[in-house]
Amino acid sequence: MAFGLAKSWYLDGIVPYAAKRTREFGHTLNIDILGMHLIYTEDPENIEAIMSTKFSEYGKGRDLYRIWKNLMGDSIFATDGSVWEASKNMMHPHLTKARTTDLDYSEEHIQKLLKRISEAGHTADMSDLLTRFSLDLVTHVFLEESANSLEIRDFPLNNAMDQLQAFNTIRTIFKQGYWGSLVPDIFVRSHMLELNKYLDRRVDTILQNSKSTNKGSPRLVDSLRLKCQSKKEIKDQVVALLIAGRDPLGLSLVWALHELSLGFNIRTAIEDTSLPVGSGSNNREPVGILKGTQIIYSVIGMQRRSDIFGDDATVFRPERWENWSPSKWEYAPFNHGPRVCLGQSFAISHMRYALCRIFQEYQAIAPAIPNEDEKGMRLELNIKPASPVICIFKPRGVSRE
Ligand code: HEM
Repeated sequence: MAFGLAKSWYLDGIVPYAAKRTREFGHTLNIDILGMHLIYTEDPENIEAIMSTKFSEYGKGRDLYRIWKNLMGDSIFATDGSVWEASKNMMHPHLTKARTTDLDYSEEHIQKLLKRISEAGHTADMSDLLTRFSLDLVTHVFLEESANSLEIRDFPLNNAMDQLQAFNTIRTIFKQGYWGSLVPDIFVRSHMLELNKYLDRRVDTILQNSKSTNKGSPRLVDSLRLKCQSKKEIKDQVVALLIAGRDPLGLSLVWALHELSLGFNIRTAIEDTSLPVGSGSNNREPVGILKGTQIIYSVIGMQRRSDIFGDDATVFRPERWENWSPSKWEYAPFNHGPRVCLGQSFAISHMRYALCRIFQEYQAIAPAIPNEDEKGMRLELNIKPASPVICIFKPRGVSRE
């Protein structure tokens, strides 16, 4: 109970805290509070340096690796250097290749999603259903067999991943002085067991199906069988797909139904270095950064800056795209540079498809809780709505064949 309250106070408070502080003190901050010591930045120049021009000087780092190992293992999301590069080389050819036939998978899972909405009497918690939809889709397309979580009421893997993400996010913020990495995994042991039970089952199935059931060119599972030296290596690639496929895609769809946005991200200075701006009387002088300093760069903070995007920066107004073209470093929901999202084109085409299909099916969608325009944000690895996004769906009357 106490942990639950502390958790929501902490994880729901970070985004508003950062917004308030940047309004007062500028867009690059040195934060030192309650054991947390880090640099926070929403300056595009600094984000460009971290993602691209000084890429080799900022990495995930040893402490983040230790903290997130219980969920991410040695996967692409937790590692730097040659281990990261090997995963990237394995995944890149498969994840970046869009296939129009993959939309057939989307349709199959959209049908299951629509069934769940209808069974719920057309008032449904879309945070839960869209996370399940994304997980089912990504596992089907890239791992041959869908998790099928939309068909199983009680699906403990989702809760296990949520709990691990929340626990590790708290440990990450309390990282400085190794505090976070010293808090043992014992508190989340049952969730680790649940995750590993699922991963072991998946790896066994991948190894048993010696030939891909998919027609056409080789798929990711073929590469996993061919190139990975151990079950552990396959497990690391599979868990990366669960992490990448479940939350970012599912949450983007959830925010799209409520409103659109995304992203906090963390790097560690792996040598003494600097950021281009953030100090001096006008905050435009470089900032010296010591090795080991943790940097939170906030894409969501940057994308809500009224001095860059105008006074309506926080308003959901998709029409802005008709005559607005942000510069590369002012708009980075998928990252840029060497660690750019490998699932970007897959995610965009399947989000488009899913949203179109949902709006084809329903003539109106309304929030179940009226006047809840400004949804709170919870930081749990990704930025989630702080409370369920419950929507009321009004069917068109004639079902689509
Ligand atoms: C709207 C949906 C998505 C968004 C907004 C998104 C965003 C991102 C971002 C910001 C990163 C950088 C993370 C970091 O630096 O730690 C990333 C990395 C990655 N994403 Fe996505 N992603 C989405 C969907 C997907 C999907 C569906 C897949 C897989 C099918 C995927 C695969 C990956 C992988 C493998 C990486 C690691 C790249 C690396 O570290 O080299 N993403 N994504």
